[in-house]
Amino acid sequence: MKTTFTELVGIKYPIMQGAMQYMSLAELAAAVSNAGGLGTVPAMAFKDADELRAEIKKMKSLTDKPFAFNISLVPEVIIPDKIYEYINVIIEEGVKVVETSGQRPGEFIKPFKEAGVKVIHKVTTVRHARAAVEDGADAISIIGTEAGGHPGSAGVAGHILWAKAAEELDVPVLAGGGIVDGKSFYMAMSTGVEGVLMGTRFLATPEVNTSDAYRQAILTVPEYGTVLTMESLNNAMRVARNKQAERVLVKEKEENITFADLAPLVSGIASYEAMMEGRLDDAQMSVGQGIGRINKIQTVEEIFTDLIDGFNKTHDRMTRLTKE
Ligand SMILES: Cc1cc2nc3c(=O)[nH]c(=O)nc-3n(C[C@H](O)[C@H](O)[C@H](O)COP(=O)(O)O)c2cc1C
Repeated sequence: MKTTFTELVGIKYPIMQGAMQYMSLAELAAAVSNAGGLGTVPAMAFKDADELRAEIKKMKSLTDKPFAFNISLVPEVIIPDKIYEYINVIIEEGVKVVETSGQRPGEFIKPFKEAGVKVIHKVTTVRHARAAVEDGADAISIIGTEAGGHPGSAGVAGHILWAKAAEELDVPVLAGGGIVDGKSFYMAMSTGVEGVLMGTRFLATPEVNTSDAYRQAILTVPEYGTVLTMESLNNAMRVARNKQAERVLVKEKEENITFADLAPLVSGIASYEAMMEGRLDDAQMSVGQGIGRINKIQTVEEIFTDLIDGFNKTHDRMTRLTKE
């Protein structure tokens, strides 16, 4: 499947796996790249530059296909010196594709551009997409409110954003939010985008870095079983509506709440540790609304086979409809 995005980054299918903090490490990302997509590892999951370098080397040992590293620029937690140190490691190790997210990439994009690294910037609005293209982004991924991770607070459905971004931007656009199978992949591509971004679907795989208790638990979450926390911090996160989410929502209703007040409840590392130990009530479990359509654990390879098969079957159905 050739699109301007597959040509830009050198992959077989226009399918990017979204970075998932602590969870999409080399095993998952390499499996995605080996299956023909673009696997992504979140650089900020590593505590220092040496650990990041080791993970890049691991990726190179697991796949000879293109892959990406994500740099999260979330304003509350960003330490510019550390970001530049990580950027240098990524460039030195010859990573060819980077995804930035969290805020306007601005100056952070420059070293990548100089080194010839392709930059995909992830946004939740078309306005932010335009700003990132001005900064030099080579491609844009745009996610709707359905998405796992941080889908913004505007509450706009993906297909509205995808079509609008594809119409208005002159760089390749990837559609994200709720894409979990061939049908939704086809639906997204029909809006004019050049590829898709998928996160939640890859959580229900053996390759994801998590516990079996977590894998099984997310299969029971219905499409209406998620909620946005952290809206008070202007950093909304879509999570399963469990006990920890309820605790966060209650705390957020207190007056003059600050990041420091909420930090113990929303700490990514604390949630990750709770998930790994099977204490699921104590974890903010980020999942998109597409979770309601996922009912089994599958390997990354099986997911790709289903994605392509489902895409083709949907196309056949659409072609039949035009003839009836
Ligand atoms: C568990 C989880 C963790 C995530 N962590 C990050 C992250 O660290 N950085 C980032 O830019 N996006 C993160 N995301 C967002 C994904 O990269 C992607 O944008 C999103 O999952 C796409 O929507 P979908 O989940 O509906 O497929 C995360 C998503 C999930 C589900």
